Amino acid sequence: MLTLISAMSSNMEIYNTFGIPATADRYLVVEEESQLRGMLSSGQLVSPYLILGGGSNVVFTKHFPGTIIHLENKGIRMLEETPGQGDVLVESAAGEVWDDFVRHCVAQGWYGVENLAAIPGTVGAAPVQNVGAYGVEAKDIVYRVRAFEIATGVERVFTNEECQFAYRNSVFKGALKNRYIIWSVVFRLHKQFTPNLQYKALLEALQAAGIEQPTPQQLADIITDFRWRKLPRPEEMGSAGSFFKNPVVSVAQFEELRSAYPDIVAYPISEGYKLAAGWLIERAGWKGRSLGRCGVYDKQALVLVNHGGCTGAEVVALADAVAQDVHKLFGVTLEKEAIII
Ligand code: EPU
Repeated sequence: MLTLISAMSSNMEIYNTFGIPATADRYLVVEEESQLRGMLSSGQLVSPYLILGGGSNVVFTKHFPGTIIHLENKGIRMLEETPGQGDVLVESAAGEVWDDFVRHCVAQGWYGVENLAAIPGTVGAAPVQNVGAYGVEAKDIVYRVRAFEIATGVERVFTNEECQFAYRNSVFKGALKNRYIIWSVVFRLHKQFTPNLQYKALLEALQAAGIEQPTPQQLADIITDFRWRKLPRPEEMGSAGSFFKNPVVSVAQFEELRSAYPDIVAYPISEGYKLAAGWLIERAGWKGRSLGRCGVYDKQALVLVNHGGCTGAEVVALADAVAQDVHKLFGVTLEKEAIII
């Protein structure tokens, strides 16, 4: 069923994990492909558009003067087994809850996605910002993405390469931002389980628990546990997960920073060094501090949290204050990962 709700007069709140009251001119919930096709050809869509997944990466600062499209399509199925290579192609509808997808894959014996357990949001949102955690990124497992162009209704399939994945980025956040509705995603997973334990603290936690070779379920459980030890659960405290990206600096800038701050946390990458923004924010003195009803989470400084009744303006004010201090101290610019509406 296609549900069309005009939120303007009713002031209906649009769900977002930050827990900020938000409204839009139009709010559309789509469950079936035929509805989406019909909607795109009917001209029901009024620009601007916002495609909302689980609402886990947005901060509403004002009424959205356009159409919010919320996908609720469901379904996960194996498309084919690649003979000889032990790989499987698995298709998931964009509206599936990401963690349900991860758990389904683990239960079916389709591996490679365990390290991404418990990330809030939907399957359709995963390729948009190339979600990543504990040594795995969406780009490692996305095989192709099926989407519809909003302006024309024309269907297009994007290969992994065409998605132009980069750290917390893709073509859907860049050149094609808000131009396509991702309807389904095909992942290339493995039938053979090879745990990815390159995230150092994960390996240490396993060793401490005396686990040498975790089972896939164990790994997904440990990752889930790991995540909730450092990050706020959406049902307990509003947040948008990592609020900033980890900034990338040149080798020369990193060397300069390291000589001033020998304990700086950074990882070498092809473009230079990726700095741990959480470390920069903590060292700038912001960890656990608040401005109004919005605060820097006390267990992970990269996360801004809603202490109750916080507005979008308060989130932006805190983010700006944090970024300003980090820049003053380290000369490094923090870029917001969350989308500000
Ligand atoms: N650190 C601090 N203080 C802090 C937080 C971090 O000093 O308050 C330092 C520590 O040395 C820590 C290092 O920063 O070892 C890295 O921290 P962490 O492993 O928590 O990872 P992150 O770089 O802060 C990224 C992702 C997370 C993902 C984790 C784990 C980004 C923007 N965020 O955070 O993603 O869960 O790695 O892989 O890349 C999300 O997107 O919502 C998210 C939580």
